[in-house]
Amino acid sequence: MDTRPIGIFDSGVGGLTVLTELRKKLPNENYIYIGDTKRFPYGSKSKETIIQISKRIVDTLISKKVKLIVIACGTATSQALEELKQIYNIPIIGIIEPTVENQMNEKVKKVGVIATRGTIRSKVWETTICKKNPSIAILSKETPLLAPMAEEGWIDNEVAKSAIKEYMKDWKEENLDALILGCTHYPLFEKLLRKELGDTIKIINTGKEIAKSLEQYLKENDLKNEGIGTEEIYLTDTESNFLNVAKQLFHKEIKIQKIDL
Ligand code: DGL
Repeated sequence: MDTRPIGIFDSGVGGLTVLTELRKKLPNENYIYIGDTKRFPYGSKSKETIIQISKRIVDTLISKKVKLIVIACGTATSQALEELKQIYNIPIIGIIEPTVENQMNEKVKKVGVIATRGTIRSKVWETTICKKNPSIAILSKETPLLAPMAEEGWIDNEVAKSAIKEYMKDWKEENLDALILGCTHYPLFEKLLRKELGDTIKIINTGKEIAKSLEQYLKENDLKNEGIGTEEIYLTDTESNFLNVAKQLFHKEIKIQKIDL
């Protein structure tokens, strides 16, 4: 048993979709979440900037004595994970590997990936999927408006509906077996995406995949906690809309603290 917390970070509210899945699967863990609202959005920033920011956050989480770190952000996973793994000894898990490992099996012939500009341009989803299963056809698309809309809580209004419609219009006829939500803000649009793409497509929420893989990892390494399960949420800028959106989207009271980094 290991009572130390699990560190999680994202640029804003998106990582809460991951925290929600982790909490469901691993309710007895303590979590420390950093939402880097001061630097949102990550999706349009350079790789160098994302690496620099991610290092600062990882250092902060390590100073809070976490047992491992979950990068609950597709952009930071695709741009910084490899670098971070070379620098730090602490286990760091991103959203891409668990998703590919758990979901890209022989049943999937054609998959679509939507994510931020930085993630799509890195091509890390393609290379990781191809390594696991080279016969899968992969379509990918930058959908940069979705994360800022989620930060505003615009997940079901006319603007959100039009944006999803526009982004998905050329994928309707593609007969995709699966759609990977390559940015952690996107599970908030699952309903609208399903409306556009139909009932048969499998929509993959990376938070669920991390939760499955993490449960296994904690068990195998004797790192599980059996406590009451606490949550500390830190934001780098508290003037953001985070609290309102988090309440509206996740229907729970959240207490936030300011952190300078
Ligand atoms: N939630 C993030 C991701 O998964 C970041 C979105 C952003 O900050 O642009 O990519």
